[in-house]
Formats: sequence, C-alpha cells, structure tokens
Amino acid sequence: MWPSPALLPALGLPWLALALASPTPTQIQNGTAAPVGSRAPAGAKGVIVQLFEWNWDSVAAECTAFLGPAGYAFVQAVSPPQEHVAGAQWWTAYQPVSYVLASRHGDEAQFARMVSTCHAAGVRVLADTVWNHMAGGAAGTGTAGSPWAHYDYPGVYRDQDFHHCGLAPGDDIADYTSRAQVQTCQLVHLADTRDRNRPRRATLAAYGKQASRLGVDGLRLERGENVHMPASDIAAILSRLTAPGTGTGKPYVTQEVSSSAGEAVQPGEYVGNGDVQEFRYTAALRDAFSGADPGGIAGLRELEGRGWIPSALANVFVANHDTERNAVSLTPASPASTYLLATLFSLAHPYGTPTVLSSYVFSAFDEGAPDGGAGACSATGGAGAEGGWWCQHRWGAVKGMVGWRNWVGNAAMEGWVAPRADRVAFGRGARGFVAINNADAPWGAVFATALPAGGYCDVVGGASVGGTCTGAGFTVAPGGTFAATVPARGAIAIHTGQLGTGSGPGEGGGGPVAVRFEETATTVVGENVFLVGNLAQLGAWAPASAIALSAATYPVWTATVALPPNTAFEYKFIRKEADGSVIWESDPNRSATTGASGVLTITAAWK
Ligand SMILES: *[C@@H]1O[C@H](CO)[C@@H](O)[C@H](O)[C@H]1NC(C)=O
Ligand SMILES: *[C@@H]1O[C@H](CO)[C@@H](O)[C@H](O)[C@H]1NC(C)=O
Repeated sequence: MWPSPALLPALGLPWLALALASPTPTQIQNGTAAPVGSRAPAGAKGVIVQLFEWNWDSVAAECTAFLGPAGYAFVQAVSPPQEHVAGAQWWTAYQPVSYVLASRHGDEAQFARMVSTCHAAGVRVLADTVWNHMAGGAAGTGTAGSPWAHYDYPGVYRDQDFHHCGLAPGDDIADYTSRAQVQTCQLVHLADTRDRNRPRRATLAAYGKQASRLGVDGLRLERGENVHMPASDIAAILSRLTAPGTGTGKPYVTQEVSSSAGEAVQPGEYVGNGDVQEFRYTAALRDAFSGADPGGIAGLRELEGRGWIPSALANVFVANHDTERNAVSLTPASPASTYLLATLFSLAHPYGTPTVLSSYVFSAFDEGAPDGGAGACSATGGAGAEGGWWCQHRWGAVKGMVGWRNWVGNAAMEGWVAPRADRVAFGRGARGFVAINNADAPWGAVFATALPAGGYCDVVGGASVGGTCTGAGFTVAPGGTFAATVPARGAIAIHTGQLGTGSGPGEGGGGPVAVRFEETATTVVGENVFLVGNLAQLGAWAPASAIALSAATYPVWTATVALPPNTAFEYKFIRKEADGSVIWESDPNRSATTGASGVLTITAAWK
C-alpha cells in the first residue's frame, strides 16, 4: 500500500518499482510457521475478485447480482474494514486508528450483512487486513470518532507498544537489505507496532476473532504485515483464528510480499502462513504483452521453476490497486487490449490463484472512489451516470473466462503452440482450449485439441444460450481439430461446458472504453447538465435516462461513461431546469467513435 505519496520520495526507491524491476529468481525457503489449513480457494471455483473501494452495501448487492451467478469464488472486500484516519483519499483506509469495524465503507452491521449476503450467493469474503502499523500523521479523529495521535491510540496502543528502531533517520526504513530495519523501523512514518509484551498479538487475535464471528473466510495481509512482521509473528496470530465457512476451518490467507533480489526479507519466508502474491508474475505479463520482452507471450509457457512462489502457493494478478497507480503493471488504459488479453491469459494458464481487479477511472494518484464508494455496473461494464467504475469483473470476456477456468479445474495444460512471439494457444486436458492473439493481424489457423468432437461456443465473445452461440461457434472435428480466426488483439476460448452451434453477434470480446466528457456550460441555480445519446449506455435519447454530469469543476461539467470498444455513437448535452423541462443543445448531433480500449476524453462547450 502507499500511504501518502507526499512521503514516498523519502523512500528513495519505492518498494514495488524495486520489486518489479528485478525478475531475478530468489531462493524459495520453507516457512517456519504452523501448517496452513486452507490454500487456494477450494472447490470448483477458483477466482478472486478485488472490488477496490466498493462500500459494503454495494459489494453485497454485487455478490447477489453478478459475482455469485458468474462463479467468482472469493470477493476481496476491498479495503480494511476497521476504523481509519479520516479523509476521502483511498489510502486513508490503510492507516488504522482502532479495531472498531467502522470505516468509510460501512459500519459493523453493514459489514456483517455483506458477509451473509455474499455467502448466500455462494461467494466467500476476504478482508483486506492491516496488522503491522497504525497511522502516519500527527493526530486526528478516526472514522468512528476515536481521537488519536502518533504513537498514542487511547485504549489500543501506547508509545511503548511501537517500535522506535533507532537505526535510521526518523526511525524510517532506509536500507531494505537490513532485516533489522525492515522489521523494526517504520514504513513512511507509519507507527509500527511491536510484539514486546505481546499486546499486538492479543489485540490482533481479538480483531481476527471478531472478523470470524462475522463470517469472514479469509484475509489478504497487506504488505505492512509481511516483510515488516516476521513470519513467525503472523503465524502466532493466524493459529488463533478460525473460519467456519472454508471447509478446513481455517481462513484462506494471501499475503502481499515484495520480491526484489537483494532485499533482506523474501517472499519464500511467508509460504508457511498461506498464499503469497507473486509480483514477478505481474511484471512478466506486463513485459510479455507490451512487447518489452522480445520473447513475448510465447515465453510464458513455463511459470514454475523460475524461482517464483510455487503455483499452488501463489496468488497472481495482472494489476492491483497499487500497481495500476504506479505504472508498474498493465492497466485498463493500456493500449491495444493488452490489459484485457493479459487478464484472459491469467485466467487460462494454470499458474497460481488469479485475482481479477475491479477498479475505477482516476486522474490523480490520491483520488478516492466515485459516488462515495457505491460501486455500480451496467450489464457488461462500467456504470456510466456518475460512474467511472471500470467493472472489469463484468466484461463479457472476463466473465466467460472465469467460467472457463472453473470448468477446466485442475486439468493439465497441454498442446501449447506459439507460432510467433505474440500468439499462443493451449488446452486444459479434454475440457477446454484457448487461443490468444496479441498481434495486430488476425490469426487464422487449424488448432489441434484434446476436445471431443462437437459444436462449441466461444466464451470470450459470447456464450451458449439454449444450445445456440450468442458469439462465434466452432466445430471440433473427430480427432480434435478445429479451424478458427482469432481476431487481431483478441482471443477465443471454448470448453465442454458451453456447447452449441450457430454464430451470433456476441457480446463483444473487448472491455469497455472509459469515455470522459468535459462540457463547459454556465448555468443558473437549479439548472443541471446531462448527457444523452443513441447508445443504451447514453440513455437511448431519452432525457429521463440521461446521464447527470458533475459540477464539481464548474463551469466544466464532467462524467465518465463506459462504452463498448470500436463503436460510433451520437450524443448531445441537455439542460434540465428546476421545473423539469429540458433544453437541448442546437443541431447537429455530436458524434465520436471509441477505440479498441483505454480512455477517450471529449472536451466540448455548450452550443
Ligand atoms: C520444504 O518443504 C518440502 C515439503 O514439505 C520438503 O519436501 C522440503 O524438503 C523442504 N525444504 C527445506 C529446505 O526444508
Ligand atoms: C439527432 O439524432 C436524433 C435521434 O437519432 C434524430 O432524430 C435527429 O434527427 C438527429 N439530429 C440531426 C440534426 O441529425
């Protein structure tokens, strides 16, 4: 996590840049901790979704509306649930003030309702968790009203409960090759709790038990704990926790640990506590899909044996909320559909347990979530309206590949072909087959598979509905071959759980494009500016369904809407008066066309 960008220059080398810049293999050591009760999410479902900055009520609604039906195993409920420093910036949630469950995202009752609603939808809940440190500032009042000051959290921790390492200026970590500094000094001045007299273990175990009482199934331990807390301290706390819903009785644990060669503390130390997030994977996919690695995606076949965390213990992602802000991974705004294709690859390749990030459009590092964190999506993408939510987890291609991964299960990867650096295809046993084309030209080929003969529906661009394909359909001949053209910068995927024939227009394989409208209009009190156009996402020309623009930067009115890629559309701005009447802009209609992916900004003035 990145507590405050203003403090980051003091670090010199931000840890993540350091981590991702050095793909050098590291020795994997065995953890020293207690045996792990539960590794990757169990059962037929194996994908985690990170709904970054969604509040508890909106996570609950999304579990019912989409995550459960789509087959997501776990929702990483977003940001730490405990009381934190006040503020609208996303990172305030990573600066705890107490262990009261009352954050910007909701209170304890809302948290409990989220957990029970998600459980009822078949989705387990991972709580983002900060154990190692408290806040970084001087003093304030937390989101539950608790007063706090640096090293003084009344009723929780006092000055003597914190490390004052005395090893570096300001007690802040200066040298990551020193284990003593990493584990007893402060990260960017965040007050660092310590275990002497064990107040931390007791407090954290009590907090963890409260979370299990509310039904939390797992924890994502934020980097502050790993690296900065010895693995044995974490193990001691985990040994006291239970999770009744996981089958094993123990919480699923995934841990954020950087992996830079030369750092004193290495990811392999933590595998005894649970899964470890493998940031070298994030960097490898970025380089392979962006072309920075001349070996391209053809080089991604073998991901074991690189000195990374072993597959069964690794949690992987194309981007998380930190990497998308720090330009160290692909992001939804990356060119040429590379982010989408990398996400599809991460769902297809058997290495690790994948997490799909679902985030929002931002223009500044600190920017908090839209709508105060009330996440919302349209059927296959961002919500529009005051939106700005990317809703990656709903993109048709991503949803199709979550189903594909659940269906192929543990079937082995086989039949890998890579005729050139930017094209790969492979099967998973006799259950599924995928082809990913990261080139700018279509890829026509006859693919050899282990699949039984039959008609199959492409799940990247559609699905099987009553035996008819809503997207492309392919016929696998006896012997397992089928002919297909994989679109430029596109993918196709079939599996034995989505059989069908015919070929419909499909949902479109791409992710939506975030279109930002910036309309300059001076208005009178009671008058508001809206946007309406010919697409369903733009209200289909109905003023009642028009999208409200925000006046936060008046006289520039703004809205960000997720629209389908490669799509021409027409629109106008309208004014709604206090009495409900509507004033249209003058003719002609405005028009624009979205690209293949990324962000489109439209600047206009009332006419
Ligand atoms: C690590 O654990 C594995 C599996 O339990 C074991 O086979 C291996 O010998 C251990 N390695 C070390 C270095 O202790
Ligand atoms: C703008 O679009 C609407 C809806 O399609 C259409 O009725 C209208 O004629 C268009 N205006 C012009 C000037 O083309």
